[in-house]
Amino acid sequence: MPSAYILGIESSCDETAAAVVRSGEQLISNVVASQIATHQPYGGVVPELASREHLRAIVPVVKQALAEAKQTFQSVDAIAVTRGPGLAGALLVGISYAKALAFALDKPLIAVNHLEGHIHAVLLEERQKGNHALQFPVLALVVSGGHTHLYLAHEHANSWTYENIGHTRDDAAGEAFDKVAKLLGLGYPGGPVIDRLAPHGDPEAVKFAPAQLKHRDRRDHKGASESAEEDRQRFDFSFSGIKTAVLRYVEVHSMKASIEKRRQALAAIVKPKLEDYLANCDRRTLDLIASFQRAVVDDLVGKTLAAARACDAATLFVTGGVAANNELRSTFERRGAQEGVPVFFPSRALSTDNAAMIAAAAYPKFLSQDFAPMDFSAEASLILR
Ligand code: KG4
Ligand code: ZN
Repeated sequence: MPSAYILGIESSCDETAAAVVRSGEQLISNVVASQIATHQPYGGVVPELASREHLRAIVPVVKQALAEAKQTFQSVDAIAVTRGPGLAGALLVGISYAKALAFALDKPLIAVNHLEGHIHAVLLEERQKGNHALQFPVLALVVSGGHTHLYLAHEHANSWTYENIGHTRDDAAGEAFDKVAKLLGLGYPGGPVIDRLAPHGDPEAVKFAPAQLKHRDRRDHKGASESAEEDRQRFDFSFSGIKTAVLRYVEVHSMKASIEKRRQALAAIVKPKLEDYLANCDRRTLDLIASFQRAVVDDLVGKTLAAARACDAATLFVTGGVAANNELRSTFERRGAQEGVPVFFPSRALSTDNAAMIAAAAYPKFLSQDFAPMDFSAEASLILR
């Protein structure tokens, strides 16, 4: 197969990223400019600010990725960019720049689904380690701030297809981490802070009822011709209930005043360290954090393994920002081993948003010459199939 250097560009949410990957299997450079500092005061991503920051960062980030890869605009073989899903205005910044580059350089342009990117982050790193023999079907849990999706993935020659067998009915798992952290006065983004604080609390202290999903998701309604797919068992998630349960716990235990004190104390520290968080959290709060994380992790792992059993999955991928979570990783590793299913994660750097995953996912499309027309547009709700 020909060797190809692909420049990837990612701007779907709050990270401006560019990377060069060789033939979907060798990470040459990977640059990520995070906007966390911009959005932190608002406790979440502000779409208009995200677009503005992408505009500011995109040119230097791409130049740095090329320079670190010892490549030039002329030397790369193709330009890959995230088409969706994501924030429309943010996506457009990356897409417009990628189109301009492809047009000016007369290079192929490849449009990539962000979720497929997260899945290919795992493949890229496994191939880089020399693991070329993955067993199919692969079941992929993509779990991030915007998504909690289960895909059954199949490989056909150079292309991949995906069947969605589960998704969240409401909040994404990462969104639940972020909302609970905000509710407890721990700042944004919440996942990494909760991850670090959870080992300091008792995960058995607060019992959360498992999410009950009685009805079929109305978004899944399909025509009669698709009844075969309708018949497949679904493995949907729901995380808004646990967020409400945390809020109720806070109210019942009169924790609001101490949360406000914590919020102010942490806001006064430029980059709070673990000790700063611990100094501002009482036992009840740490127990609540540990119990919340345990409940989310058990739900994600339990449903994914049930889906793996039902679909006879030979391999599990766990990817997306929440895949950086320590308890999620160790629980998947332990329970995957018990069930005899190998579980693969990206490194923590490639778990959260990056452009290496976009350049890697573009390689099969490069081989099959699946190039994007110059007039393609951003798709905020792009579906992966
Ligand atoms: O994949 P990502 O960078 O962006 C999206 O596509 O959404 O994921 C970001 C999400 C945020 O909700 C963040 O709180 C969560 O991933 N996250 C974590 C951890 N690191 C990031 N959640 C739990 N534990 C972590 N260590
Ligand atoms: Zn993502």
